[in-house]
This record gives sequence, structure tokens and C-alpha cells, in this order.
Amino acid sequence: MKRIILFAAAALLSTTIAFAGNHANGEKIYNKACLACHMQGVAGAPKVHDVDAWQKRFSLAMETVKKQNPNADAKTLKTKVMALLVQTAQKGKGAMPPGAMCPNCSAKDYQAAIAFMMSKKK
Ligand code: HEC
Repeated sequence: MKRIILFAAAALLSTTIAFAGNHANGEKIYNKACLACHMQGVAGAPKVHDVDAWQKRFSLAMETVKKQNPNADAKTLKTKVMALLVQTAQKGKGAMPPGAMCPNCSAKDYQAAIAFMMSKKK
């Protein structure tokens, strides 16, 4: 049983890191709009390339998404988690203002920036 749980956790982790998103565009958006807070972790913001910190955010969002979609498969859940994180950037959270200081960002732009911040430092 323990083995299965470990395996599931590892699978979850690898999906997080491999989030789809245009890396170059993500880096551009990050540099323009997100860096101000996410580079140093201002006011508790998860830091760029801090995979553990982002994993925690991902897991919390996953709990919410699973409650809302108890029968969804893993791929659907992952897509919905990313959509929820994008929505959070659009609505704002805590010290992060609505729009996350990127008034012209599309949902795809936010997604790319989030995927970039979640990724390991190259
Ligand atoms: C003014 C500072 C600031 C800027 C600019 C900013 N953020 Fe944040 N962000 C935060 C803070 C603070 C948190 C933690 C909020 C909390 O949990 O209370 C956060 C959390 C997040 C989260 C996690 C939300 C969750 O559900 O836990 C995402 C995703 C995110 N930011 C995306 C972005 C993106 C994408 C950009 C750039 C387009 C951006 N942020 C720009 C301050 C900022």
C-alpha cells in the first residue's frame, strides 16, 4: 500500500514539473510582470524555480479540483489545476493584486509564466 502511495506521489511530482507551456514566452512574461515578487518571494510568494514551494501550491489546488471533479482522470485534473492557478493570478491572492501586474496577459501567457516558475532552474 505504502509503495502505491509513493508511486502516486512521484507521478504527481513529475507531472507538475512537466507542465506544458511555452518556456520562452513564460520567461518573457515572468521577467516583465512576475519577477518583482516571485524572484525574492515577496510577501510569501512562491519563488521562481522553487519546485518544492510550487509543488505545495499545486497539491492544494489539486485538492480543490478533485473535490469539484471526483471522477475526472489524471490528465483532466492536471489541466484543471493549471486553469485554477491561472484564475488565481487573474483574481489575485493575498498580496498579489488582481491580474498579477500583467494587465495584457492572456490565460496562455499566465499559464506559460506559471509553468516557467514551476520548472527547475536550467
Ligand atoms: C505584487 C507581487 C506579485 C506579483 C507582481 C506577482 N505575484 Fe504571484 N503571488 C504573489 C504572492 C504574495 C503570492 C502568494 C499569495 C498567498 O498565498 O497569499 C503569489 C502566488 C501566486 C500563485 C499561486 C497561487 C495559489 O493558488 O497558491 C501563482 C500561480 C502566481 N502567484 C502567479 C503569478 C504570475 C503568473 C505572475 C506574473 C504574471 C505573478 N504571480 C505576479 C505576489 C505576486
